[in-house]
Amino acid sequence: MSLEQAKQVAAYRAVDEYVMNNSVFGVGSGSTVVYAVQRLAERVETENLKVTCVPTSFQAKQLILKHNLTLGELDTNPRIDVTIDGADEVDANMTLIKGGGGCLLQEKIVASCSNKMIVIADYTKDSSKLGDRYKKGIPIEVVPMAYVPIKNKVIALFGGDVKLRSAIAKAGPVVTDNGNFILDWLFTNQDLDWDDVNKTIKMIPGVVETGLFVKMCQKAYFGQPEGNVIER
Ligand code: 5RP
Repeated sequence: MSLEQAKQVAAYRAVDEYVMNNSVFGVGSGSTVVYAVQRLAERVETENLKVTCVPTSFQAKQLILKHNLTLGELDTNPRIDVTIDGADEVDANMTLIKGGGGCLLQEKIVASCSNKMIVIADYTKDSSKLGDRYKKGIPIEVVPMAYVPIKNKVIALFGGDVKLRSAIAKAGPVVTDNGNFILDWLFTNQDLDWDDVNKTIKMIPGVVETGLFVKMCQKAYFGQPEGNVIER
């Protein structure tokens, strides 16, 4: 089974188990979420479900519109029943690294407004400790003018290295949906207290959000190479 099929089985399982009629659904971002929206569209059509979809990115909004689903926003739907989102890595304590696609800020806002946050992923994201499997570090969304001081402060506080994300080598920095830059913190100490790290980094002036999701996710579905799904 391909990686894509592993993403699909996880996404379909989560949508089948968690999306209910007359509910508000948070739509995550990334390649695995594409399958979740596909499945939701099928269910809306065949079961005549009424679901309002709140996006976590420009990509998610485009997906909702493409499938003719009902688009909502937090202004009118400040409480979300369930958000289904991808992740770059999930550790044994259900701490997540997110933001590989640069959408961490809106993803965290929507997750924080959700009664439940469910992760869907292929088996390569299932990890014991953060950094065991995902090697691109922890994304930090920052206000552009502050990226150098923030980079220096993160290294001084916790070690490792910090890179300004750019889409193509020698091109300019990646700009998020919110007009900010992304720093990728390549941490070397895997035994840090991630709750403390998240709070400490967030206190640095100019940091908008981190891609560390601590105690936010209740359940994860990992699609396996054999076609089954492991739940955590
Ligand atoms: C985007 C994210 C994505 O959910 C994460 O990168 C996983 O993406 P994919 O499903 O493509 O592996 O956090 O900011």
